[in-house]
Amino acid sequence: MSGDVYELLLRHPHLLDQNTLIVGAGASHPPGLVATLRDHGCSVLSWDLPTANAFAALQENSHYSLPQTETLQKFSRIILLWPKSKLLARTLVTLIANSNTECYVAGANDSGGKSVAKACSQLTASAEKLDSARHCTLWHLQLNAESGFNWLKHADSFTFSEQSYITLPGVFSHGALDKGTAVLLEHVPAPAHGRLLDLGCGSGIIGLSMKAVSPALDVTLADIDAMAIRSAQLNSTRLNLPADIVASDGLAEIEGRFDFIFSNPPFHQGKETDYEFARQLFRDSCRHLTSDGQLWIVANRHLKYEEWARESYAQVELMAQEQGFKLICAQQPIQS
Ligand SMILES: C[S@@+](CC[C@H](N)C(=O)[O-])C[C@H]1O[C@@H](n2cnc3c(N)ncnc32)[C@H](O)[C@@H]1O
Repeated sequence: MSGDVYELLLRHPHLLDQNTLIVGAGASHPPGLVATLRDHGCSVLSWDLPTANAFAALQENSHYSLPQTETLQKFSRIILLWPKSKLLARTLVTLIANSNTECYVAGANDSGGKSVAKACSQLTASAEKLDSARHCTLWHLQLNAESGFNWLKHADSFTFSEQSYITLPGVFSHGALDKGTAVLLEHVPAPAHGRLLDLGCGSGIIGLSMKAVSPALDVTLADIDAMAIRSAQLNSTRLNLPADIVASDGLAEIEGRFDFIFSNPPFHQGKETDYEFARQLFRDSCRHLTSDGQLWIVANRHLKYEEWARESYAQVELMAQEQGFKLICAQQPIQS
């Protein structure tokens, strides 16, 4: 999400005070925004770790978590930053309607910001367009009352190896196992033991399904997104597959060395294709692998990940190519 949506909000300073909670992701913001929000006593809640970090100066007014009624009901004014996923957006409006009779929505027009009224027609008594600028639109919604919100009611699931994995709205592979992940799981037998990291874990499918086969594995699941973290926690508990579950931007919060690191890395972030996560993963993973450890990556066939892997690893093998995906195994870190 670009900073434009915040520029739009700044045209309405009377909406920004200690009664206001801004809900949504989007780390990039105009200069001076954090100081302005701090001066106004405004709070921010995001499930995206870099966003929460970007607003860290708000101290206790910056929340990194799955949005819940208990938090929202402390604020009389909620401003929802409209997410790209319509399903997540509608779920969030349903959640807000549990605690608040009205809310504001600000969204980029190319992410559905123009059609908020239509997208929320079942959930609202009225929707008024208040402003539009910088390719973004600001709405005021009168909400139909809701009760008994439970994230689980909005979760979907998929089955793998006779076990069902839940994903909350907005989490990758919502309701279906990703084809790339399927290629990885088909070609890599679960290691019998050792420390395993599933980086960018989403529902936790890679690490948890391996734990199901090899209970002696010591599994860590990490993701940047609190919705993914919550999905992975739910799956770990429901399936009785214990794992350490860590909120981390890449390897930033990961401690120690692993015998296996697995990842189906993100590469689409925003409008631009962004390969930085994978590139950095090849560089940084060397410091988190044991001397005979293995890094396994599944990626779209057209991505030149082997080249980057060879900058950091002495042995890089293409282990499979299927359905537009390739599976790479990197070993023997050059510098660790
Ligand atoms: C392609 S999905 C794979 C999810 C899951 N492993 C699977 O196979 O279904 C990539 C995941 O990486 C997470 N992610 C994106 N950027 C990240 C970052 N900088 N650090 C950690 N996780 C990240 C996303 O939230 C998403 O859950």
